[in-house]
Amino acid sequence: MAVNLLLGLQWGDEGKGKIVDVLTKNYDIIARFQGGPNAGHTLEFDGIKHVLHTIPSGIFHDKAVNLVGNGVVIDPVIFKKELDNLAKFNIDYKSKLLISRKAHLILPTHRILDAASEASKGKAKIGSTLKGIGPTYMDKTGRNGIRVGDLELSDWKERYRNLANKHEAMIDFYDAKIEYDLQELEQDFFEAVETLKSLTFIDSEEYLHKAQKEGKKILAEGAQGSLLDIDFGTYPFVTSSNTTAAGACTGLGVAPNKIKEVFGIFKAYTTRVGSGPFPTELFDEDGETMGRVGNEFGATTGRPRRCGWLDLVALKYAVHVNGVTQLMMMKGDVLSGFNTLKVCTAYKYKGETIDHLPYNIEPENVTPIYTEMKGWSEDLTKMSDKSEFPKELNEYIEFLEKELETPITIVSVGPDRTQTIHR
Ligand code: GDP
Ligand code: IMO
Ligand code: MG
Repeated sequence: MAVNLLLGLQWGDEGKGKIVDVLTKNYDIIARFQGGPNAGHTLEFDGIKHVLHTIPSGIFHDKAVNLVGNGVVIDPVIFKKELDNLAKFNIDYKSKLLISRKAHLILPTHRILDAASEASKGKAKIGSTLKGIGPTYMDKTGRNGIRVGDLELSDWKERYRNLANKHEAMIDFYDAKIEYDLQELEQDFFEAVETLKSLTFIDSEEYLHKAQKEGKKILAEGAQGSLLDIDFGTYPFVTSSNTTAAGACTGLGVAPNKIKEVFGIFKAYTTRVGSGPFPTELFDEDGETMGRVGNEFGATTGRPRRCGWLDLVALKYAVHVNGVTQLMMMKGDVLSGFNTLKVCTAYKYKGETIDHLPYNIEPENVTPIYTEMKGWSEDLTKMSDKSEFPKELNEYIEFLEKELETPITIVSVGPDRTQTIHR
């Protein structure tokens, strides 16, 4: 049985959590493959909004198993908070949540290091969520990290101490004058580790291999977005993992030839939170409207998201890098009421017109070239079938499908589970 992937094609927050929740009924296993609590995946149903950071977005369904894969980095403290939230809604997570032994742990000192590194960068800061993501992946690739499986060994606290001591020396080196009480942080950390240890740890690559043999249906859930990918994103303003399709292979141990559908999620416009180039960013009333109507505030940090028109140059790049087979357009409802919609179809780059993403996309290097389209005024949020779509929305969708050479199979018209239209 094949594995399907779902991932974000822009700078994150495309609505991955919502769609994973919508699709979970078709799957046996939902598996997160990278990132950590820098992610904030929002789901809405029965009038309640839930935000997940590390736990896969299939957790509210009874049937599916939810797996935190080896490519994920886990902060036990945040993880415990997520579990406590689930308990409030009587979700029996213990029976359906599995953790890969090979997933790495975010230590309290990783979080401090993240803050120290950002402070030392001054104006050039990444705009990190300060969850310790960069330092944890650095320790992973530097071969110093502590993994979930290590918690089952008797000497893990010794290894913890050695690494934390080293981190403290590094924090001093940054001279960022960050105040922290490690003892207090460690108390929370060790308590949360005990909670983590009450869950089931598995050799997840083997588990997924067997599941595939048994014909189980697996959906891999990505975090962040393709333009935040450590290799293919707007480096250095990126996260520290591979957010693109290849990340699902390394982050779960799924072979490339086992992947069938790649669902690429994008907003009908563009947003970005944190620093870094964003060619179609708006600083006018249109951008302000998108932010207000779309309620564009980070689900993890609460920071306002920067907003702009849809960038097809960047989107095409993401479709190519991921091998997207189906597109899902989110937040179409937010564009209702604009007389004219703009879509960036090319860049002016060094005096030339180009339609691919160049190495440098800073404002001094690229100017977006827009195609204008007629907007629609109808409220989409109450619609339940594509036959109700206004003509201009259909034209917008068909234009994107043609440009991206990929079908748009879902159009989302509101945050709720039910506000999802299949085409
Ligand atoms: P994720 O990180 O990709 O899961 O996305 P986030 O949860 O960070 O951000 C998406 C936000 O948009 C959340 O607040 C969702 O509830 C909301 N959302 C998702 N789909 C739609 C939609 O079609 N319309 C509107 N108005 N909001 C949506
Ligand atoms: P989801 O899964 C949007 C951004 C941060 C910052 C950069 C690096 O909800 O789509 P990090 O904490 O990883 O060192 O931050 O990446 N970022 C996200 N932006 N959605 C996310 O996740 C993000 N995760 C990280 O704002 O610019
Ligand atoms: Mg998010």
